[in-house]
Amino acid sequence: MGANKYPILFSSDQIQGMVKRLGDNITKDFRGKNLIIVGVLRGSFIFMADLCRQIDLQFQVDFVRLHSYGAQKESSGTVQISKDIETDIKDKDVLVIEEIVDTGRTLDFLIDRLKASDPSSLKVAALLDKPSRRVVPVKIDYLGAAVEDKFLVGYGLDFNEQYRNLPAIHFLE
Ligand code: IMP
Ligand code: MG
Repeated sequence: MGANKYPILFSSDQIQGMVKRLGDNITKDFRGKNLIIVGVLRGSFIFMADLCRQIDLQFQVDFVRLHSYGAQKESSGTVQISKDIETDIKDKDVLVIEEIVDTGRTLDFLIDRLKASDPSSLKVAALLDKPSRRVVPVKIDYLGAAVEDKFLVGYGLDFNEQYRNLPAIHFLE
């Protein structure tokens, strides 16, 4: 594997600290609600697995898989869905889980699509945000950390489908 040559931005301990803080806030805010957590595949699978275990509530989980085509390190304007949620979210409180928000196109597409199913509320949790890259404005309700415009791998984030398994988040240099 040998991916540890890449410099670390956030260590595993730092990530777990962020995840704990987000989980505590989500637990407070969603108490008494009908929470459904929707993970965006594939990148969010590790963040979602850890975050779910820091949310001390009863809830359901579901997944969507979205593609945005374009250059390898950048999403294009076109977002497509290849796996939709299978849960009825009408009148439910939906929390979307993204590992990183870049241009905002993926989240914007997903939020519009989910809103059409008439949830009672719709919020977003993202581990990382690259605000300087934003093309479409999106509101992130629960954020781990804002980062500068550098390509990152690890903790679910990939480059060409590799490095998702790294426990830390690294700069791909
Ligand atoms: P957006 O539609 O441009 O906001 O793209 C969001 C998606 O692009 C994320 O869910 C990731 O899958 C991917 N992405 C954006 N930045 C990075 C990065 O630094 N490393 C790995 N994937 C990234
Ligand atoms: Mg993604």
